[in-house]
Amino acid sequence: MNEQDFRALVEADAPLFSKIITCRPFSVPIPESPMQLSSNVERRVLVTGGAGFIGSHLCDRLLELGYDVLCVDNMFTGSKRNIEHLMGHSRFELLRHDVTLPLYVEVDQIYNLACPASPVHYQHDPVQTTKTSVLGAINMLGLARRLNARILQASTSEVYGDPEQHPQTESYWGHVNPIGPRSCYDEGKRCAETLFFDYHRQHNLDVRVARIFNTYGPRMHPDDGRVVSNFVVQALTGADLTLFGTGAQTRSFCFVRDMVEGLIALMEYEGDQPGPVNLGNPVEFSMRELAEKAVALTGSQSVFVSKPLPEDDPKQRQPDISKAHDLLGWAPSVHLEEGLRETIAYFEKILPETTSHA
Ligand SMILES: NC(=O)c1ccc[n+]([C@@H]2O[C@H](COP(=O)([O-])OP(=O)(O)OC[C@H]3O[C@@H](n4cnc5c(N)ncnc54)[C@H](O)[C@@H]3O)[C@@H](O)[C@H]2O)c1
Repeated sequence: MNEQDFRALVEADAPLFSKIITCRPFSVPIPESPMQLSSNVERRVLVTGGAGFIGSHLCDRLLELGYDVLCVDNMFTGSKRNIEHLMGHSRFELLRHDVTLPLYVEVDQIYNLACPASPVHYQHDPVQTTKTSVLGAINMLGLARRLNARILQASTSEVYGDPEQHPQTESYWGHVNPIGPRSCYDEGKRCAETLFFDYHRQHNLDVRVARIFNTYGPRMHPDDGRVVSNFVVQALTGADLTLFGTGAQTRSFCFVRDMVEGLIALMEYEGDQPGPVNLGNPVEFSMRELAEKAVALTGSQSVFVSKPLPEDDPKQRQPDISKAHDLLGWAPSVHLEEGLRETIAYFEKILPETTSHA
């Protein structure tokens, strides 16, 4: 669905999409400040991968909501810069640790986000990527079982592979190459999902699985090769914008603030075991449209260059978020241009520190 169709649906008052724009992202009220936390709300939360892009925003929001946050990260793709504003916060702790090793801490909830997420990073050491997904899941599930804690897995739309169904619903089993260069990530995440649901069936563990679709925003890595950061950095530095293939392939992009609200809403969901839940923004943009927006919003003089499509690159990926909407009352609310402006402002601030382009 393109943005025009999406807006047309909203204007026509189609029930789902009108709610998507206006609803609050929680089915149950989440306290706005520490003072409002009731005594039965879990207080200590472990965020693995908490120094990464999404993890650091999740730590911010959990602290705002009054939780004690233990951030565990091996700093492979995470950065102290992402969490430096939290250092010294009385309810925040950082522990450098690799989730492929067992961890013994006391917490009430676990968000398992530890895993490099961009192809450049997860293909750097594919064996370690699979270990992080699989051993990391086993270790965190073991910890959750010992503590009887609820645990949420940051899974991915990559479990659908190069999908033959559009948009993808949670019931779709996917179309994944088990031996390609992306398989360490895709199959690692699929195996982690298997482990999560086996722990649920076998040990009655309270698990949540979020299938995260393309997410963007401040604190993305400037050199992670993901399309939003690529285009913004290229536009800001006056470099050529790389369009793979014809640029007609589409993606949908969810702003990180929306994603964090969705993850927390899923963690807080109190109904029956919901199964995997897609979280993402269903509005699709072609790569060419995204590149044009990046150039327009940065006022760049950059030009486009074409390169062949990478192996196994999906041509289209779009979430069906009806389940998240119906169960959690969640839907994204940040428009691409608004999110891009915040992302551009972030990269404008950090680029002189991280590249030779001043
Ligand atoms: N960003 C997206 O668009 C997206 C899409 C789908 C799924 N996800 C998932 O969300 C999670 C967070 O993604 P992100 O975009 O913030 O990526 P990121 O690379 O910024 O964050 C991942 C964090 O995990 C840490 N990490 C990696 N291996 C580890 C290990 N063995 N032990 C401890 N820490 C480790 C990294 O240092 C980093 O801080 C990942 O699990 C990813 O698979 C992200």
